[in-house]
Amino acid sequence: MKTIIEPFKIKSIEPINFTTEREREAYLRKAYYNVFMLPAEEVLIDLLTDSGTSAMSARQWAGIMEGDEAYAGAKSFYRFEHKVRQLTGLKNIIPTHQGRAAEKILFTLVGGPGKVIPNNSHFDTTRANIEFSGARAVDLPTSEGRDPDLIADFKGNMDVPALEEFIKKTGASNIPLCMITVTNNSGGGQPVSMQNIRETKELCKKYGIPLFLDACRFAENAYFIKMRENGYSVRSVKEIVSEMFSYADGATMSAKKDAIVNMGGFLALNDDALTTKARNLLIVTEGFPTYGGLAGRDLEAIAQGLDEVLDENYLRYRLRSVEYLGERLTRAGVPILQPPGGHAIYLNAKKFLPHIPVHDYPGESLVVELYRRGGIRSVEIGSVMFGTYDENKQLVPARMELVRLAIPRRVYTQSHIDYVIEVVIEAFEHRNELTGYRITEEAPMLRHFTAKFEKK
Ligand code: F0G
Repeated sequence: MKTIIEPFKIKSIEPINFTTEREREAYLRKAYYNVFMLPAEEVLIDLLTDSGTSAMSARQWAGIMEGDEAYAGAKSFYRFEHKVRQLTGLKNIIPTHQGRAAEKILFTLVGGPGKVIPNNSHFDTTRANIEFSGARAVDLPTSEGRDPDLIADFKGNMDVPALEEFIKKTGASNIPLCMITVTNNSGGGQPVSMQNIRETKELCKKYGIPLFLDACRFAENAYFIKMRENGYSVRSVKEIVSEMFSYADGATMSAKKDAIVNMGGFLALNDDALTTKARNLLIVTEGFPTYGGLAGRDLEAIAQGLDEVLDENYLRYRLRSVEYLGERLTRAGVPILQPPGGHAIYLNAKKFLPHIPVHDYPGESLVVELYRRGGIRSVEIGSVMFGTYDENKQLVPARMELVRLAIPRRVYTQSHIDYVIEVVIEAFEHRNELTGYRITEEAPMLRHFTAKFEKK
């Protein structure tokens, strides 16, 4: 088979600012070893997130010029609404400025004390919005999904028997809705099978609970289904997407991922009464229902992006380029969460740096080293992000110590990825020289964004 190439040519470029190791060491000291505090100009390859970091196409930029900026009833809104309806089959489409704004509106209305929302794995903002409403967020991934070394096709799946147990124990009346996140970001960007979505829907229906998709990476999930699930190789991604959404009563979406734009999102609902309440809240917090926190031009770019993301040449390249990174690292013995996800590779820092105990934050040490050695910005998903303290102020570590290399859409070429591979392998060869970190300052919530560190 020939190389799967980038299915685009480059028309407009943005220069990368080259820096030396010595300069980066100074930048790190200035940023208290927290890469969130680095100005982006000091970063060579930015793999902090795949969210809002995509490159738009010429057609999307053309759409930006076509944007209708009328306050009410803009043409761009109707184009956006039509596209989202066509894609999802859902009835009422509410634009929001990003995914978490859709979550905030939804859980303000259906959450609250005593309520519980299950999911295969909640993303942090989803969990935060649920908990902020006074409700509880519960993750029910399968046992396969909890094993970082196991290679399996659909490690993002919901544990359906556990969900039934959970519904019986909690009482369906306390569960306003059930969610499935596709792909499962917190679980390593792993896909959810169609069978699993169908079975979850059947179970929810039995208990009268609506099923919602957290649809940020719906197209990547659909392409995994096409490649891996029996009976789907002959179906188009568009058909697969339609079937996925046919099981949903609603969806939240961050357009910053699979709509390939820099800002935007939506809430889609079949329930008319809930929609009326959501639109009323939208007017208070986001804007009038035909723009909801976005400009007309943003809605145009989203509508166009939702077409482009279904291009199977694009999806084949997208998943292959992430897999390529995972494959090369695995071949060099670098421990990663297996198999490669749709939007990111997660390095297993606990295995990468077995000599650094979890309370000295091996993930943080690896994040710092990738930046110091190669100017690569990644993100720790481990005990810095999810660690808590017990009553004796001792760290209760996260379940895994991961470092995510998230790949922005259509931004980096294969040689950029080859460079990343070289830097990670070099860091792996020198892993015994790395030491742990201690936190010198931290916020009471979401500490990873602003914490200050020093070398131990
Ligand atoms: N749901 C999932 C699964 C996500 O990955 C994100 C964002 C959101 C919801 C929230 O969307 O950022 O538009 O408000 N994930 C980004 C990330 C931030 O880096 O994984 P948002």
